[in-house]
Amino acid sequence: MIETERLILRDWRSEDLEPWAAMNADPKVMRYFPAVLTRPEAEAVMVRAQAHIDEHGFGFWAVERKADRLLLGFTGLKTLAPDNPLAPGVEAGWRLSRHAWGQGYASEAARASLAHGFGPLGLKSIVAFTATDNLPSQAVMTRIGMIRRKDLDFDHPALPKGHPLERHVVWEARA
Ligand SMILES: CC(C)(COP(=O)(O)OP(=O)(O)OC[C@H]1O[C@@H](n2cnc3c(N)ncnc32)[C@H](O)[C@@H]1OP(=O)(O)O)[C@@H](O)C(=O)NCCC(=O)NCCS
Repeated sequence: MIETERLILRDWRSEDLEPWAAMNADPKVMRYFPAVLTRPEAEAVMVRAQAHIDEHGFGFWAVERKADRLLLGFTGLKTLAPDNPLAPGVEAGWRLSRHAWGQGYASEAARASLAHGFGPLGLKSIVAFTATDNLPSQAVMTRIGMIRRKDLDFDHPALPKGHPLERHVVWEARA
C-alpha cells in the first residue's frame, strides 16, 4: 500500500468491480484504447492487476480517495509484456474515472509510484508510453518529471498495422 496526501494505492477488492467496470465502459475514458471493456473484460483486467501485485509486490494498484474512500481508478507500475519492444522493463500507467480528472490525482499517484519504484523496488529505469494523440497522459508524464524518449517510440504490437492508435510515444524516468 502506498499513501499520498489525498490518495491510497492499494490491493483490489471485490467491491471495486462495480465502479471499475463502469469506468471502463465509458467511451471518453477509453478514447485512446481500441474499445471500451465489457464487464467480464474489466473484471479480467482487475484480476490480472491483482495477480501481478501478488507475484511481484507491485502493479497497477487501485487508487482510492482518502476523503470519501471512492475508487478513482488505477495507477502504478507493471512489468512490460514480453512482446513489448521496450521489454524487459517496468512501465508506469494510470487510468482514472472522468469525475476524477483535472484535480492532479493521476500525477500525485504516479509520482508516488515512481518514488516506490526507485526507492524500495530499486529500479533503475521506468518507462511510460501512450498513443500519439493521448495528450492528457503525456502531460502526466511531463508533469512528474519523465523525459521524452523519441528514440524509443514504437508501433504497439497488440494493434493491427495501420490502426490509428498504433504509434506509441515514450517517456522515461531514471533513478
Ligand atoms: C490520463 C489521465 C489520468 C490524466 O488525467 P488528468 O486529470 O489530466 O491528470 P491529473 O490527475 O494529473 O490532473 C492534472 C490537472 O489537474 C489540475 N489540478 C487541479 N487541482 C490540482 C492539484 N491539487 N494538484 C495538481 N493538479 C491539480 C492541473 O492543473 C491539471 O489541469 P490541466 O489538465 O488543465 O493542466 C486521464 O485523462 C485518464 O484517465 N484518461 C483515460 C485513460 C488513459 O488514457 N490513460 C493513459 C493511458 S497510457
